[in-house]
Amino acid sequence: MKGIIIAIDGFSSTGKSTLARQLAHKLNYTYVDSGAMYRAITLYFLDHSIDLSDKVQIVKALEHIVLTFIDNKISLNGEPVDEQIRSMAIANLVSEVAALKEVRKFAVAQQQAMGEEKAIVMDGRDIGTTVFPRAELKIYLTADEHIRAMRRYDEMKIKNPTISMNEVVENLKHRDLIDSTRDVSPLRKAKDAVILDNTELTMEQQLEISYQWALERMKA
Ligand code: DC
Repeated sequence: MKGIIIAIDGFSSTGKSTLARQLAHKLNYTYVDSGAMYRAITLYFLDHSIDLSDKVQIVKALEHIVLTFIDNKISLNGEPVDEQIRSMAIANLVSEVAALKEVRKFAVAQQQAMGEEKAIVMDGRDIGTTVFPRAELKIYLTADEHIRAMRRYDEMKIKNPTISMNEVVENLKHRDLIDSTRDVSPLRKAKDAVILDNTELTMEQQLEISYQWALERMKA
């Protein structure tokens, strides 16, 4: 069967990364978490006090950033940062960084290069619309708002025991708003994407549905 490109997009905390990782595993495909790239860039910008309103500083900073994935975990200039990029400090700034034109150009070029060999599952916000507009399978994942907030809260609480539900809800709303209203590649459902609402689905169920869709597209 031919290798295909699978794009999974949707709002924050819809479970994109978990589904994408498991689907890639089941298909023996490469998995790329594009959000981790924007998070790692944000970490670099924070560590180097980059002024987000200064285009020259941003372009210079990007020249010093090398992102690599080893076993699905991202490294920033050779240093594993997968843990660090899941902090609240990064979550609070990443949407602003991801809305910058220069940053998107930098990340999208690398994402497209990763897809050249096909046999890839990538999750994000603009994968089906901008990164791989010709992807054979595009999934637009949705879930009830309350469920999304609960999922994110449970996830964040492990590393930040003092975090409040309110803080999580506010961050989700803030990111959803910026991610879907920015000028460059806002989050949109691609016209040819299939909607998967996982509010009442188990992980196994959504994986099975996606897997069947993938098999159909591989045979097409
Ligand atoms: O999927 P995530 O929550 O790790 O993504 C972090 C941020 O990066 C999110 O707020 C939006 C941005 N992002 C993006 O703009 N485009 C992508 N393809 C992936 C993520």
